[in-house]
Amino acid sequence: MSKTITLGEFIMDRQAAFPFVSGQLTRLLTDIGVASKIVNHQVNRAGLAGILGESGSVNIQDEAQQKLDVFADQTFMRILSVGGSVAGIGSEEQEDPILCGDEGKTGKYIVLIDPLDGSSNVDVNVSIGTIFSIQRRKTPMGEPLTEQDFLQAGTHQIASGYILYGSSTMLVYTTGTGVNGFTLDPAVGEFFLSHPAMTFPEKGRIYSVNDALLDKCSEPTRIFVEGCRQTRGARFRARYIGSLVADFHRNLIHGGIYLYPSLIKKPNGKLRLLYECAPLAFIAEQAGGMALDDDGRVMDRIPTELHQRSPYYVGNKNLVQAFMASQLAEKNPAMNTVPQREN
Ligand code: AHG
Ligand code: MN
Ligand code: MN
Repeated sequence: MSKTITLGEFIMDRQAAFPFVSGQLTRLLTDIGVASKIVNHQVNRAGLAGILGESGSVNIQDEAQQKLDVFADQTFMRILSVGGSVAGIGSEEQEDPILCGDEGKTGKYIVLIDPLDGSSNVDVNVSIGTIFSIQRRKTPMGEPLTEQDFLQAGTHQIASGYILYGSSTMLVYTTGTGVNGFTLDPAVGEFFLSHPAMTFPEKGRIYSVNDALLDKCSEPTRIFVEGCRQTRGARFRARYIGSLVADFHRNLIHGGIYLYPSLIKKPNGKLRLLYECAPLAFIAEQAGGMALDDDGRVMDRIPTELHQRSPYYVGNKNLVQAFMASQLAEKNPAMNTVPQREN
């Protein structure tokens, strides 16, 4: 039997390979693994633990919070804020950033987190997730954090990842040297390396979009999706779970494109740049894929607000490039905008 590698061993090995990486990042990644196991436990017994349904509160985005949104948020906050490595946390569920330790004066890292992604699927036993992003603080240690510590471009991420609470629970992350996936063995309570060096397959054949939005988005986006439909019988398949983590993960494994477009009444779409788009863009690029908004590379976008939303097109490079061509074709109608049927 080949040797199994736990998440903890893997993180330590990686730290040894990069001497400039401090033990603080190792501690932080380990803490994320611990918090995710606690959330996973509650997710698995949600129907028994009385934590299905709405909590009765709304978050800063004016969305009704589920009890599990609140539980996941509190769990990650509690564990990450006492580890010593985190100076501040921005959460989708909290209006203002949380300052850790001594008003955020200590701790090297900033964490941005969507504690529970896919809340609308909680009550119906469909896969949900957590998405996280880690950046270095900008203000010197010993000084109070400022807004600018939280508003950094995706290219400044030093790690990002997601946890998928699905038919099995997986933690997938990158520190900028490829993407690795770990599966939780519930009997042992450990994540084991199960998907080393993850990459998108060469060709993607899945498109994932909320069909009901298509009459509210731009003409080129509609034409692109129509193109996917026309070739679908031969090659393409439509798959949309409504949990970004689950849709992204499936497309990473099987190949595809996920779209949450700008809408006529919501030009920035729905997804959040710092908690959802940028961290998964880092993973996508590290896995050989691509992530765009309406103006170009998501990773280059410098946020102006913590809870900023962004249109999002992510997945296989060939499909995201075809999508980009469809947008450019609006300015140059001679260009072909429809994904080509492949025989
Ligand atoms: P969250 O549960 O963190 O608010 O995120 C929900 C997001 C994302 O997970 C999903 O892909 C998308 O919302 C679904 O939105 P629609 O229901 O509009 O398709
Ligand atoms: Mn989300
Ligand atoms: Mn969420």
